[in-house]
Amino acid sequence: MADIKPLSVLAAAGMAALSILSADMERAFAHKEPHTRDQLEAFHEVFMDQVTVGDLLFHGDPATEERLGVNLSNTGMACAMCHPYTSDTHPHEFPKYQEQMAEFATLRDMINWCIEKPNEGEKIDPDGEAMKALESYIYWSNRHSKLDPGRH
Ligand code: HEC
Repeated sequence: MADIKPLSVLAAAGMAALSILSADMERAFAHKEPHTRDQLEAFHEVFMDQVTVGDLLFHGDPATEERLGVNLSNTGMACAMCHPYTSDTHPHEFPKYQEQMAEFATLRDMINWCIEKPNEGEKIDPDGEAMKALESYIYWSNRHSKLDPGRH
């Protein structure tokens, strides 16, 4: 996409520039080969591994917390005790204005809010392994729902 020319250049150079643009787009899309069954299986496996780790974290598994070096709770409460139906955490509504935080929040912000406030745990790295796993599990719990960002 970096090669796509601004509109002003296109207008000046006319059809010649347009053909360059379409050649660029062909190149940009050329790598979109269908995946093989083996690749799809491998991608799914990576995803489900993350979901499994997130499931363990959500249900307060101490060994997984220790392995990932996180402390999600100091109250003895796991996420699942307050959110027994994981999909009730409504991941499809994010980002949205979050009343509890009095700010516009992503799902990751909200996960960290719950770790810090109700759980009195230690906030986790938003780009770290534990966050990716929690996010994977929470999204997985709500798979096939329609994205509806900003909703309450
Ligand atoms: C002691 C109870 C409690 C625990 C434990 C808890 N939460 Fe929450 N959670 C809340 C409350 C209260 C809210 C705000 C009210 C609401 O939106 O449901 C909330 C909201 C959320 C939301 C946003 C829901 C929405 O619809 O906006 C997410 C996501 C979330 N929690 C994830 C987690 C995760 C992940 C954990 C574990 C690390 C966790 N929570 C642990 C009480 C808890």
